[in-house]
Amino acid sequence: MEGAGLAMKPVIKVAALCGSLRRASFNRGLIRSAIQLCDESIEGMKIEYVDIAPLPFLNTDLEVDGKFPAPVEAFRQRIRGADAFLFASPEYNYSFTGPLKNAIDWASRAPNAWADKPAAIVSAGGNFGGGRSQYHLRQTQMGPNINLVSESSHDAGVILRKLGG
Ligand SMILES: Cc1cc2nc3c(=O)[nH]c(=O)nc-3n(C[C@H](O)[C@H](O)[C@H](O)COP(=O)(O)O)c2cc1C
Repeated sequence: MEGAGLAMKPVIKVAALCGSLRRASFNRGLIRSAIQLCDESIEGMKIEYVDIAPLPFLNTDLEVDGKFPAPVEAFRQRIRGADAFLFASPEYNYSFTGPLKNAIDWASRAPNAWADKPAAIVSAGGNFGGGRSQYHLRQTQMGPNINLVSESSHDAGVILRKLGG
């Protein structure tokens, strides 16, 4: 039988997070482009946008009996289920944004949902293409043990292929 015995190639699931909550965000535009690029030209990889807007501000008082608020549980599940991450990170005051830090912190609460998975950063906007936000984001990821690819290219194709190993 044709194809019998051939193992299906697993699909690498990439969760894409945007640090901007605004509707016309350039950085969310980057994620849309990455999704399109991936669908058209990278076999074996699927990028899914994960919205961080529903997350409340992190407050450990909201963790009750080992449970997180519903939007946080849902978010953590998406992060746990992903194989890799793509961060689209605008620059706010020489750093990355509060909403993105909030999202990283929620998913880092034990058991850490990020650990040992690869990630890449893209950025747009401002007067330096969001470059300074990338430096701070890199430092932050030492905490939750996210493995950032070394590429700091603005070429999404290069970055995405690195994520796939
Ligand atoms: C509070 C705030 C602070 C900002 N600080 C910087 C900055 O330090 N450097 C910079 O280049 N752009 C800065 N910007 C501009 C944003 O990076 C720019 O508008 C970017 O396009 C926002 O991303 P978005 O289009 O995905 O929403 C700032 C914008 C805001 C709202």
